[in-house]
Amino acid sequence: MNDEHEYQEAIERAAEVLRDAQRPVIMTGAGVSAESGIATFRDPEEGLWAKYDPMELAHIDAFERDPELVTRWYHWRFRKCKDAEPNAGHRAIAELQRRVPGTVLVTQNIDGLHQAAGSEGVIELHGSILRWRCTDTGAIVPIEQIPFEEFPPRSITGGLLRPDVVWFGEMLPPEALEAAAEAVSACDVFMSVGTSSVVYPAAGYAEMAASRGVPTIEVNPEPTPLTARVDVSLRSGAGRAMPDLVRMAFGN
Ligand code: OAD
Repeated sequence: MNDEHEYQEAIERAAEVLRDAQRPVIMTGAGVSAESGIATFRDPEEGLWAKYDPMELAHIDAFERDPELVTRWYHWRFRKCKDAEPNAGHRAIAELQRRVPGTVLVTQNIDGLHQAAGSEGVIELHGSILRWRCTDTGAIVPIEQIPFEEFPPRSITGGLLRPDVVWFGEMLPPEALEAAAEAVSACDVFMSVGTSSVVYPAAGYAEMAASRGVPTIEVNPEPTPLTARVDVSLRSGAGRAMPDLVRMAFGN
């Protein structure tokens, strides 16, 4: 962590940039939901990928090989996400969208917590675990109609149901990719919040913005491959830094 003085200075610099912005892009990752009790992926002890093998659980081949195992695991994660509450970081991002209506929020998260905090127009690059779809028809099945007593769950027509998320080995949704690329190419500030910045294309967006001379800000208690390249690094949890930043930029 920065010491307190460095942190305050960084908040002031970030607030100055944000105050003038009309089209900021906020890109979020699992870290923004950590303070809501949702595990991140790459934390060396508590991260999901420290405990589970993504190739066994989050790959399209894994679902095809063992749909029971994969849907049980996603149902466990679904319940965690459904029961979680948005935290101060999510709420501050929603507040920023109200203060600066041109703000575009792009997330790699599948937990729906930005929407629960009041964010609108969220671009979900990796889908949502709160939606499940039929692998036969592609139709989204309302969650309360899914028979989670048996695994893998099936639709009334007998098709296997799966979470509407992006697995390894799958393409990202083209509309979300297009919307994100368009927002990044038009943004006047780029913020990366709570992501390790190692998974593409999300990790490349900051570089795209920076190459146009757009100011870049990172919020993360740990350094990432992006840290040395951003204009302002806020070394803190999003639950503290985002409310501090919005308050400093726009007042209470
Ligand atoms: P990671 O687990 O890779 O990174 C989470 C980041 O959040 C780390 O850099 C942490 O330091 C940081 N962090 C932890 N607590 C934080 C807090 N309170 N506030 C802010 N930051 C905090 O998660 P992602 O970057 O989201 O994809 O991972 C990207 C993708 O990789 C995920 O969407 C997932 C994963 O494999 C798929 O499953 C397809």
